[in-house]
Amino acid sequence: MSDQPTNSSRGQWGSRAGFILAAAGSAVGLGNIWKFPYITGENGGGLFVLVYLVAILLVGLPIMMAEIFVGRTTQKSPVGAIRDLSKRGSPWIMTGWLGVLAAFVILSYYSVVAGWAMHYTWITMTEPFTGQSADEISSVFGAVFGNTTINTGWHVAFMVITIGIVSMGIHRGIELCAKILMPTLFLILIALLIYAMTTDGFGRAAEFLFAPNTENFSGKSVLEALGHAFFTLSLGMGAMITYGSYLSKKESIVSTSIIVSILDTAVALMACLILFPIIFSANLEPGAGPGLVFVSIPIAFSQMSGGAILAPLFFLLLTFAALTSAISLLEVAASYFIDELKWPRLVAVLVTGFAITLIGIPSALSGGTAMFGSGFQELNAPLLAYLGHENGLNWFDLFDYIASNWLLPLGGLAIALFASWRVGGAARQAAFCGEGKGMTIYFVWLILLRFLVPIAVILVFLNAVGFLDWFFALFATAVEGG
Ligand code: TRP
Repeated sequence: MSDQPTNSSRGQWGSRAGFILAAAGSAVGLGNIWKFPYITGENGGGLFVLVYLVAILLVGLPIMMAEIFVGRTTQKSPVGAIRDLSKRGSPWIMTGWLGVLAAFVILSYYSVVAGWAMHYTWITMTEPFTGQSADEISSVFGAVFGNTTINTGWHVAFMVITIGIVSMGIHRGIELCAKILMPTLFLILIALLIYAMTTDGFGRAAEFLFAPNTENFSGKSVLEALGHAFFTLSLGMGAMITYGSYLSKKESIVSTSIIVSILDTAVALMACLILFPIIFSANLEPGAGPGLVFVSIPIAFSQMSGGAILAPLFFLLLTFAALTSAISLLEVAASYFIDELKWPRLVAVLVTGFAITLIGIPSALSGGTAMFGSGFQELNAPLLAYLGHENGLNWFDLFDYIASNWLLPLGGLAIALFASWRVGGAARQAAFCGEGKGMTIYFVWLILLRFLVPIAVILVFLNAVGFLDWFFALFATAVEGG
């Protein structure tokens, strides 16, 4: 413990690289490899990618700096950190609570998707899809989602691994895991990328991604890109506050945030450069939606030589990426009980992990009818209408919907406003520019956070509750009428 100068009872990153890898591990996840490619496909490629990159730069990066700043300054997890920077009983503390709640909600269903990645790693290894027809392979996903035993089993297995790693603590658990998994993940990505470059779909994929394609791009695409910038960088619920709280005050907020954002973006783009050549080579549909990874990839790999090796490798990669993200979600929940209620780490991790495993079970059962009739399949309509969503959501979809469209934008907005308006200016400026250096960056950051970020986030939020649709419809009728 002698290399831990301060706060050794709480834990601290062993090195700057350890922090960067852990934070990148949190950011890089299912959002990059599963979600980003399919929403890029749906929104027509090129222009969407460009807007996403701008959103990362102008909205995501400033909020990440704000979160790391709040955490690093206070060396506390979200609730305590915000209390320290405002005052006891301040309404801003609700932001911290919201984050803890979001951790429970997100991890409960995230773990189910991670379970699919584990299941696919297993089945592509033990019974390769080679030679099966596309229909046979796509029916596998439906069967998996409908199978309560498979879903619950892998969900619990994934949670047990996550709990095991987080209980080992910051330095020996989370950091060590990230130091092993992140480089492995990059190696697998590079191997798959080299393979994708040899397929004849590569040129078409590159053009799809980087030429300014406007087809399928709409006003809503801008907002979707912005919303995804949040999810992919793990912002809006205090994950980066928590990780920042284990960071030594010697380390720069600006450079670490930039590196983490670049790594996250690189993985998202690499995932696209791997998936789309395969999709184009196999003549599959890029706009196929959420099933893109779990349906199209096994289909594509089944038609290729080497697919029997590449397919399990791909799903192993997805599992690793999900694991280092899940760790950060559990750490947010556990650190609240460790810091605020003074629970020992092991107890806090076991209790929160167990609770999240239980909360995730309805999500794991969402595709099946075997055990509880259709109880978890279709939630009741008035409740959904009240939440601003039409009918037809199951429990799993509902949790995803609440988290990405309500909790994260709200949390991100609150953190942006808190860090830029509420926190004392002198302390903030000192944290950013130690010896008077970096003043320009500091002021650009402050202006973005005070004005541009709130406006952008409010737009995402209004879009999520359907207000913009309503507004545009009203506008259209007004124009027609006038
Ligand atoms: N960023 C991760 C991904 O892209 C998911 C994630 C981890 C997350 N921690 C988070 C999302 C905190 C929002 C908030 O898959």
